[in-house]
Amino acid sequence: MERKLRIGIIGTGGIAHAHMAAYKQFDDVEIVGGADIVPGKAKAFFEKWDLPNAQAFESAEELIKNVEMDGVTICTYNTTHAECAIMALEAGLHVQCEKPMSFTLQEAVDMVKAAKKANKILTIGFQPRYSYMRQKVDEIIRSGTIGKVYYIQSGGGRRRGIPGGTFIEGDKAGFGCLGDIGCYSIDECLHAVGYPKPLTVSAVATDYFGKNPKYWPEPEKFNVDDFSVAFIRLEGDITFVFKQAWAMHADSLGDTLWLGTEGGIKIINSFDYANKPSRVMLFTDVNGMQVDSYILPSHPFDAYSSPQKVDVFAAKVRDFCDAIKEGRPAPIPGEEIIYNQAIIDGIYRSAKLKREVEIEIPEF
Ligand SMILES: NC(=O)c1ccc[n+]([C@@H]2O[C@H](COP(=O)([O-])OP(=O)(O)OC[C@H]3O[C@@H](n4cnc5c(N)ncnc54)[C@H](O)[C@@H]3O)[C@@H](O)[C@H]2O)c1
Repeated sequence: MERKLRIGIIGTGGIAHAHMAAYKQFDDVEIVGGADIVPGKAKAFFEKWDLPNAQAFESAEELIKNVEMDGVTICTYNTTHAECAIMALEAGLHVQCEKPMSFTLQEAVDMVKAAKKANKILTIGFQPRYSYMRQKVDEIIRSGTIGKVYYIQSGGGRRRGIPGGTFIEGDKAGFGCLGDIGCYSIDECLHAVGYPKPLTVSAVATDYFGKNPKYWPEPEKFNVDDFSVAFIRLEGDITFVFKQAWAMHADSLGDTLWLGTEGGIKIINSFDYANKPSRVMLFTDVNGMQVDSYILPSHPFDAYSSPQKVDVFAAKVRDFCDAIKEGRPAPIPGEEIIYNQAIIDGIYRSAKLKREVEIEIPEF
């Protein structure tokens, strides 16, 4: 019988349950242990999941020292991603780390260096990459259909969506919406164009909702941002306008856009997209005529309009396992996500300093 892949979970809070639900679907994978710094939390987690043989610890170090594993999934809050990932990589384990990659850019660089040195997988948990429509949008942009992309704009955001828990505590999450859901926006916008290097950022971050008891019940606990905008220059003469909100008085910060010299792609983010044939539009010129088309998948998995139809979370966990088994490189490599983290780091610094900042990425 084939030996099962042995995986450990570091951090057994909210999202660890989604990881567990995904791993449970795979017969060739076994969750053999876990750790959480809150006493008893990892033990209770395995009791809930009815895994009496999984070993529970109160530090990642003890888990790594005592349990034979192929890899770990890191589900701690953002400020401890780097220390846990580096510890696991140095012990020769493959790592799947939740998004955002880290708190600071330097931490992300150190994580990649550790993965390279250990020659192990370091993959970052951006499950929307497994959406069929997202992959199609990436393909269309990369095919050159819209020409040279010179402007990208993120959109969307939440009207009332402050997540609470450790997400609003600066010492644990590091930042608020700019890194939490902002990292998804950055990944969606920039993966499609091959993650050009960011050069400068001018950003603003505010906390008008989290600090207001009218909109958030624990304003005294809230010490991160709930809204952020940034103007980012990317290598290759590309302008990237970033916007993100956990809360606002509007249904959306606008559409996601890629403008190219030969066409444009728009993802409709407002709520009225429900009345449109698709959320994705392509604008082109044909024989001197302006053509607007809705992109419709000739495939049942349309995660942009019906996310429930495809389990992108399970797909990301499966890909990590398969990459280990097949000796493949990281599916969502840390080397690429460093550019995502560099932008978040730049937004955070620029917003604090209230001026434009340069982005310098240390060698990795
Ligand atoms: N991919 C997704 O859809 C998704 C969704 C939610 C959260 N997340 C990400 O998952 C991460 C965790 O979010 P959450 O909601 O589960 O937070 P959480 O606070 O509920 O859980 C984090 C857990 O990690 C533990 N922890 C912290 N540092 C540790 C360490 N050094 N060693 C061991 N345990 C440690 C905490 O005690 C806590 O139990 C965040 O980075 C978040 O951005 C991803």
